[in-house]
Amino acid sequence: GFLWWKTWRPKSFPPGPLAFPLVGNLLQMDFSGPLQGMKKLSEVYGPVYSMYLGSQPTVIVRGFKALKEILVVKGTEFADRPQNRLTRTVSHLKGLVVAPYGKTWKEHRRFTLSTLRNFGLGRKSMEEKIAEESAYLIQDFKKNKDTLFDPHCVINNAVSNIICSIVFGRRYDYDDSTFQDILHLVNENMKMTMGIWGQLYNAFGFIHYLPLPHQKILKNIDTVYGFLQRIVEEHKKTRTPGEPRDYIDCYLEELDKSALQGEEDNNNKKTFDNQNLSTCVADLFIAGTETTSATMEWSLLYMMAFPEVQEKCRKEIDKIRGDRTRLDYEDRVSMPYTQAVLQEVLRMASIVPLGIPHTNLKEEQLNGYTIPKGTVIITDLSSLNYDETYWKYPHEFNPENFLTEDGELRKVEPFLPFSAGPRVCLGENLARMETFLFFTGLLTHFEFHWPDPASPPDLTPVYALSQTPKHFKMRLVPRINDK
Ligand code: HEM
Repeated sequence: GFLWWKTWRPKSFPPGPLAFPLVGNLLQMDFSGPLQGMKKLSEVYGPVYSMYLGSQPTVIVRGFKALKEILVVKGTEFADRPQNRLTRTVSHLKGLVVAPYGKTWKEHRRFTLSTLRNFGLGRKSMEEKIAEESAYLIQDFKKNKDTLFDPHCVINNAVSNIICSIVFGRRYDYDDSTFQDILHLVNENMKMTMGIWGQLYNAFGFIHYLPLPHQKILKNIDTVYGFLQRIVEEHKKTRTPGEPRDYIDCYLEELDKSALQGEEDNNNKKTFDNQNLSTCVADLFIAGTETTSATMEWSLLYMMAFPEVQEKCRKEIDKIRGDRTRLDYEDRVSMPYTQAVLQEVLRMASIVPLGIPHTNLKEEQLNGYTIPKGTVIITDLSSLNYDETYWKYPHEFNPENFLTEDGELRKVEPFLPFSAGPRVCLGENLARMETFLFFTGLLTHFEFHWPDPASPPDLTPVYALSQTPKHFKMRLVPRINDK
């Protein structure tokens, strides 16, 4: 009786498919690609419907009206994060990505945004760092000019180096196998935590001790966090107070300040501590690597699938660059076509298709339904991307989706690849700067060709928290004018 009750929808809760006791709708879900199934359910139950992940009531929100309500209009009310075994194991209720809404998250978000913004001052600017890394990437690509090669590892490494240089003040060579191993584990975990074993682990604590695949997730977490923790410890030994080299040093300065403040001033006490430092470092490292490197891989794959778009992009790049060696980020304002292409890649690939789950701090109304406190809210950002009402070419890759009749960049309001509201992606500007500079750098130096005319690129994403393309090999041709 009790178990049935737990999966029985309360009155005025959003409707949804019948859930089984204990497992809820878990076994009805296709974890290799749930997006299609979620779309079908919304055709039956509407833009706001519910499912049970185990006994956890979960509301799926689709379409611009309902998403805007959750993310912006009632942004603060829905700005909390649901917690489960995995989030608690990984983040201890701290850091940025899954931290509960409240003082700790606010202070860390503010500190991180201002540190990212200010970090260029007096030192090498963010843009110069990206340009420097872009030069390494181009050099490495050139080595592969006579072979078919899979760019995944180098791109992943190059993108990660940007966040590494901001957070730990260093980059890793592309042949550093220890670092490659770490990147591989992060990659693997992004896929596994969203899969059936991650979900079962969250739903049923007792499997913790069983020798099942979720153990691999936990072991990977240990390895990656161990690697990051050693970097933090190293910083504590080598820093000079007052002369921060990077994000970690800036954080250690804050810890010094809190220590000076002492015990007496408890009300104004800041929330900075060692655990928060570790979680922030891991959050930035993981969020800053996977998503942006997937975007870069998608952009090359789409350029090979649509060579005429690639050529048009390159013409614009060449025209604006003139005889300079590279473009500046500022140049983007006169490059609507290239910007439209990068937007179109974000749309078609739905990089973070379901955003990151939100939850509400107290009971709320949504679309005429009552949402009890602590309901898991899944924001289906991908639902906006192929909606026939918003796009001229909803189902095909076509940069015209982001251009006006006169070829100007068009702002499309119902397009939220970075989400919106208080929890909007903290790295949006960085991600846009990185993709613009890497992408235009690569197109300046190479033509990209799909090697096998008989079977065109497979553009079906591998579903995960961030969607990547399937592994692919490509052929590149250095451009004639390239010395
Ligand atoms: C959160 C997308 C790159 C750091 C998010 C969210 C999305 C997203 C959809 C969830 C927002 C929500 O909960 O409503 C993307 C995409 C990227 C990207 C598509 C690349 C193309 C980055 C980068 C960083 C970053 C480079 C590193 C600085 C974060 C953080 C959060 C977040 C820290 C959590 C924010 C919070 O909970 O307050 N991102 N992101 N992201 N992203 Fe990104």
